[in-house]
Formats: sequence, C-alpha cells, structure tokens
Amino acid sequence: MTRPRILLVDDEPNLRKVLGALLEQDGYEVHAEEAAAPALARVKASPSDTFDAVITDLRMPGMDGIGLLRELAALDPHLPVIVLTAHGTVDSAVQAVKLGAFDYLEKPFDRAHIRTVLERAVATRARTGPSMGSAATAAADPSVAVGMVGSSPAMQRIREIIRTAAASPSTVLITGESGTGKELVARALHLGSERAAGPFIRLNCAAIPAGLVESELFGHEKGAFTGAVSSRPGRFELADGGTLFLDEISEVPLEIQVKLLRAIQESEFERVGGVKTIRVDLRIIAATNRDLLEVIAQKRFREDLYYRLNVVPIRLPPLRERIEDLPELLDHFVQRCNERLGKNVRGFDDEALARLRAYAWPGNIRELENLVERMVLFASSETITAAELPDVFHGGAGTEDRPIADEPQEGGLPQVRVPLSSLGMDLKEAVRLGSRMVEEVLIREALRKTDGNVTRSARLLGISRRSLQSKMKELGLRDDPELRGGRS
Ligand SMILES: Nc1ncnc2c1ncn2[C@@H]1O[C@H](COP(=O)(O)OP(=O)(O)OP(=O)(O)O)[C@@H](O)[C@H]1O
Ligand SMILES: [Mg+2]
Repeated sequence: MTRPRILLVDDEPNLRKVLGALLEQDGYEVHAEEAAAPALARVKASPSDTFDAVITDLRMPGMDGIGLLRELAALDPHLPVIVLTAHGTVDSAVQAVKLGAFDYLEKPFDRAHIRTVLERAVATRARTGPSMGSAATAAADPSVAVGMVGSSPAMQRIREIIRTAAASPSTVLITGESGTGKELVARALHLGSERAAGPFIRLNCAAIPAGLVESELFGHEKGAFTGAVSSRPGRFELADGGTLFLDEISEVPLEIQVKLLRAIQESEFERVGGVKTIRVDLRIIAATNRDLLEVIAQKRFREDLYYRLNVVPIRLPPLRERIEDLPELLDHFVQRCNERLGKNVRGFDDEALARLRAYAWPGNIRELENLVERMVLFASSETITAAELPDVFHGGAGTEDRPIADEPQEGGLPQVRVPLSSLGMDLKEAVRLGSRMVEEVLIREALRKTDGNVTRSARLLGISRRSLQSKMKELGLRDDPELRGGRS
C-alpha cells in the first residue's frame, strides 16, 4: 500500500526531524526540504500526483512560505498547503489561510491537531487532486492509516469491519474495555468514509456536567439559561458534513436521550432556547466501555436509542484476548519512544516478554503504551530486562487483575501523576520532552513525596526499584543530602 506523501519545508533541521518523525509514525511518507526553492523544484520535477500535501514554515531565508504557497497554487491548485506558525504569530498564518493555505499548525505541536489537519488535507486531495493518487490507496485501509497495530485474527476481523463500515453511512457502536482503541477505530471509520474531508467532532459525554449535555450536543441561544451570554453551536452543528463521535455514550442523562434519539433519526434538532429547527448531515459513531444492556436493565439507558445506535456493532477485544499482538505492539511503541526521546532501546528480553505476556492488562493498550514510555525513558541499556519491570509484573501478582499503586487509578498500572509542580507537567508530557533535567525533577519529586523511600518512589514512577536506583546513581542523586529520608 502506498502511504500518503508529505513534502515538509522548513529551514530548521530539528523541526524537520521531529515533525518528520511524528508524521512517519502516523503512516505518512515524508520528504523534507530546507528551503522553498528546492521544494518547488522537487514538485516541478515530480509527476503531478506525487505529493498529497505540503507543510511549510512561513519564515525562511530566501523565498518565504507565502511565496511558496503562491508558486504552488499556480503549479497545482488543489495541492493542500499547510503552514507552520510559532506560538503567538497566528496572524500571519491566518493571512496565509486567506491566501489559500489549507490550514495552519501552531508550534509547539499538538499531536491530535496535526492528525486531524493532515487527515483532512489528504482526504481533500483524494477528492480534488489531479488524479486519484496515493491518498486514495491509503484510504483503502483506514485502520493502517490511523496507526493501528496488530495482525492477530481478532485484529484482522476488526480491520475488515472498519473497511466495510467506513463506506456506509450507518451508525456504529464501538464497545470495549478502557484503552482498547475505541477512539482510534472511530478515527479510522471517519478517515475511510466519504466524509473524511469533513470535520471529526468528539464529545466525551462523561466529561460534561449533566445539566450542560444538551447544550453541548445541540448548542444554545443567547439567554437560554444562566451563563448563556451568547449563542453557540453544539457538536451536532460543528460536525455537519463529517462525523460526530459520542464517546462514553452511557453517560448521557436519561432525559436527554430522547432528544438525542430524535436528532439521530431525523437529522434535525433545535438549539437550547431556540425555535428554529436545524438540519444537519452527519454520521454518528458512539462508544462505551459499559455493557449497555446492563445499563438498560438499570433503566438508565433507553432501549430504542440503543437499537438506533447499534446498527453496526464493533466489539474491541481486550489485549489479553489477543496477546499474540504484544510483540508487534511493543515494537511499535518502543520505536516511537526511541524517536521521541533520542534513545536506542531495542526491546525487551525473553523473560521480560514472558512476564508482559502473562499480565492481565486491565488498562489494555493505553496501559501498555504508558509502560513502554516509562521503560524507555528510564532504560539504561539497549535491552530492557525483567528486573526493570515494575512490581506488578513480579511474583504471583502478574496475572492478577489488580493494579498495584500508591494511588490506584482506574485500569491497571497507576497512570503516573507525580505532580511536577515546578514544571507543571506529568510524566507523559515529560517523556515527550525527554531531557535529563526532566527525569531528575521527576525523580526528586517522587523521592520528596515519599520521604526518600526508594521502593515507594519507584512504585509512584511506575518503574522497578532497581531501575530507579541505577537512574539515581547515574544522575548523582544517591548522596544528595536534600533527598535523605527513610531510604528503604
Ligand atoms: N491497535 C492499536 N495499535 C496501536 N495503538 C493503539 C491501538 N489501539 C489503541 N492504541 C493506542 O492506545 C491508546 C488508547 O486508545 P484509545 O484512546 O483509542 O482507547 P479507548 O478504547 O478509547 O480508551 P478509553 O475507554 O479509556 O477512552 C491510544 O494512544 C491509541 O493510539
Ligand atoms: Mg476513549
């Protein structure tokens, strides 16, 4: 399968490297140029459907991004050009969009936003491009395009369902435990659909106070309720022409469910406090990690809504039911972390792999992803050994469905939240930065929080005691008087 091709133009080598790596992880083929002139030469010399999108910096020596945009528009008017802009200089990017740029990306980059913009760009290219080039082929396997890994029979079936369901306008209900990839499937369905060039709008129904769900869904008119100081469109309106992803659908309050049912059935609704009926054209995808039949039995979910949503059911199996995908997933996440952190970890040794295989993974792929991030961040050699794995993988605890943590959180290993007050970030963000300074701050905070107790700190950080000790040695923290405490 051909991957969509992106031409990336920026004079800064670091940016080319980082953004290039992000894009390649997302399944794009990236060609980088350091200036507008060679980029232009490249486009001129290539067949007209070679590139699916161009990403260019605005400020560059020689011809700038606007100049490049103009030249490209003359060469190939349908080639989407996305401009890069530094935080705080959005004005010039907006200017570029007015001049015909497809969209802009603001630095520092937001991964989800990059994905959305590129998916739209590539899909637009597939529709309007000079020929049905590489993008059309990419759209043939949307689950690959969104970066879904795994070739177990269960995953192959899911990929097949996605391919078929993407093409149809039917409502899809995705079920599966937390972290099994429900959102990823929703994105794949959108990307593979004829609405791919339209918006993908997500609403997490569990994250909104019950009283605001209706207005989030359908919008409101000015003065509709206290606090409604201006009128606002809801997610249904925003998703017009695209896909509306209703995440954690079981959490929609019962009294709103009947309105939701009508909106889905009739494709029309009114804003809260509004009289005008608004019509939209969109595709609904819903997801839940609850057993909806049980919620129906508890009289907290309408049966008619359930049947209306469950036209195409997709059930994502938990990781433990397709554990044969583990090596492939580990490889994928290790490579990704290596690129991000500039590390060179090759993988896990046999014993570590055996322990990971025996584990129940209550937090599924997300838990695995988090674990790999921590392991790679703290790795001191090329191969990660069983001894470096956190406690939960040792002894008989391995197959138990019980997360071991100081502050247990829903689903498996503790989602590490050592509050890095000084940096205002948690481990996940810290991993993205990948600096030793961050590692050190993180470890210091954990030690301080536990009065210097290495065992408990390791647990808080989600790594083994041995890894923590060797990290502390490496960073010269072992004899730091400031951190002296219990030291168990
Ligand atoms: N098959 C897969 N290959 C690669 N990465 C995956 C796969 N499935 C899930 N992931 C990754 O795992 C993480 C969790 O996936 P996602 O958010 O889609 O799960 P979810 O089912 O929506 O979870 P939750 O119920 O907690 O919201 C994401 O970072 C996603 O990219
Ligand atoms: Mg989710």
